[in-house]
Amino acid sequence: MHQDDKKTQVAECALEFIETRQVLGVGSGSTVNIFIGMLDKIRTKIEACVSSSNASTKLLKENNFKVVDLKEVGKIPIYVDGADEANKSLQLIKGGGGALTREKIISNNSEKFICIIDDSKMVSQLGKFPLPIEVIPMAQSAVALEMIKLGGRPVLRENFTTDNGNIILDVHNLKINEPIEIEQEINNLAGVVTNGLFAIKPANKLLVADGNSVKEL
Ligand code: 5RP
Repeated sequence: MHQDDKKTQVAECALEFIETRQVLGVGSGSTVNIFIGMLDKIRTKIEACVSSSNASTKLLKENNFKVVDLKEVGKIPIYVDGADEANKSLQLIKGGGGALTREKIISNNSEKFICIIDDSKMVSQLGKFPLPIEVIPMAQSAVALEMIKLGGRPVLRENFTTDNGNIILDVHNLKINEPIEIEQEINNLAGVVTNGLFAIKPANKLLVADGNSVKEL
């Protein structure tokens, strides 16, 4: 089965988890774009959406959904988003689309984070996918040096500015043996806004499409 078909399969499965009329947190990326395209099927259950990126906001509005700011609603009952890598502990690498900061803010303020991926994203150890780090521009070199000290190879994402006006360093070759510790360590560096490890607060549920079925972890 083609990867896009698996994305469709897993996006469709996520619809079942939205039970009552509620505010829905919506992530970013191609899997989520498919999910947004399906939301019409459960329109009556969606009071409003909190969006994790300008791109998702645009798509939600084009599909006639009300988009509200997180600060207007406080905690969100459910957040649906994709990931670039996931392990069996439901820890993730996110940020391939560069929306990691708003994604982490929404995840941290959601009762349930449902992560939707296809089976190509499942790994035994996180880190094959370069770890995205959102950095305040003036700290680019300082943070890059710290990443080299950690054994990584930081690469500036060319021609890219985040929705918050910052840069992304994609860090290759990091050995992520202890995801929680590395997430904390990188977060503590001056100039780092967010890193793409979602290990301190992993997903609550992982839906994985393998072409035949969608497995729930
Ligand atoms: C964006 C993300 C996405 O969830 C992640 O990149 C997965 O995207 P896709 O569904 O296109 O594979 O974290 O910042």
